[in-house]
Amino acid sequence: MTAVKIGLIGYGTVGSAVGRTIRSHQENLQIVFGKEVQVAGVLVRDKQKYEQQVKDVLLTDNVEEFFARTDLDIIIEASVGIEPAYSYLTKAISRGCHIITANKEMIASKGAELKELAKEKGVRLEYEAAVAGGVPVIGTLKQLLHINHVVRVEAILNGTSNFILSKMSDKNIPFEEALQLAQEAGFAEADPANDVDGWDAFYKLMVLSDLLFEAQPDWEKVTRKGIRTISSHDIHAAAEQGWKIKHVATLENTGGEVTASVEPVVLSAEHLLYSVDGVDNAVCIEGDLVGKLKLQGPGAGALPTASAIVEDLANLVHQRKEVRVKRTFQFTEKREAAPYVHL
Ligand code: NDP
Ligand code: HSE
Repeated sequence: MTAVKIGLIGYGTVGSAVGRTIRSHQENLQIVFGKEVQVAGVLVRDKQKYEQQVKDVLLTDNVEEFFARTDLDIIIEASVGIEPAYSYLTKAISRGCHIITANKEMIASKGAELKELAKEKGVRLEYEAAVAGGVPVIGTLKQLLHINHVVRVEAILNGTSNFILSKMSDKNIPFEEALQLAQEAGFAEADPANDVDGWDAFYKLMVLSDLLFEAQPDWEKVTRKGIRTISSHDIHAAAEQGWKIKHVATLENTGGEVTASVEPVVLSAEHLLYSVDGVDNAVCIEGDLVGKLKLQGPGAGALPTASAIVEDLANLVHQRKEVRVKRTFQFTEKREAAPYVHL
């Protein structure tokens, strides 16, 4: 019986944790797949950096050499940015590989094309890790979308920003020091400007928009603000009123008119996101039937993200039929409010 062969693209915080998890949880994976699950090849940009870590399997920085291995069944992509990840995944799908990705920038930008190609080739494209790290928000939304109308999503989607705001508030440490702690913990993006300028949460929100509305708003017309301008003074002034400043991403559907925004907001203690601190992410979903749900958990970090990826891996054994009722939506620009929206 041949093993399930996996090709890993990227071997940083996430990719290396996936490699370790496939070994540490091999017994469970073998029960799910009925055979061994092996990492058969690793593609990085600079292979010298990884020679001590990756042994006994193909380690390469040459994409032709990686794809010359024609027996790969599944590609797990945990690299950075749109290209060359998109081209690599296009190639992998064309060769009949299933795809699992954690790369939210790529999936926000090229998800529609990849989904189409995957459908045409009869392979699966899974991306649970791309939104909210270990929190199973994609799976939950897919489960809710058959009959419910989702009318509102309010979410903390960037673990680094939430971690920084929490540390500035609780430990009274400056922004730069809190960012450095987030980087050391492996939460931040390779370029942390993506986190603190709101891009990372924005990409995740666009992935959710694709899932909920099968479309995205014009990116130029979405309010996108980060946390750089929030001072300790702002945080403590809010705290004196019993409020917290949080970085919140919102999608709101009012009778078919959809608005999207990513910005710091002031929350009072009654709000479901008020208590979400540290690196946690949380997603509050309001459906017309189910009412309000809140999913919360670690939004970044090696193991929570590897968890989302290996659960996607295990889910590949189930045939999934996605039945959606076609609905019509129109995106509109959200009103500006300054300095903070109060939810
Ligand atoms: P790292 O910077 O730690 O690792 C990135 C890896 O990708 C490195 O091994 C790097 O190789 C490789 N890589 C970069 N460019 C290329 C390329 N052109 N070809 C091949 N390999 C390449 O990032 P993370 O592991 O933290 O994140 C990986 C992805 O997962 C990102 O898209 C991120 O947004 C996403 N993600 C991260 C989470 C986290 O908590 N860290 C959580 C959820 C998603 P080299 O070192 O040789 O450049
Ligand atoms: N940099 C991201 C964050 C990683 O802090 O949320 C998880 O997507």
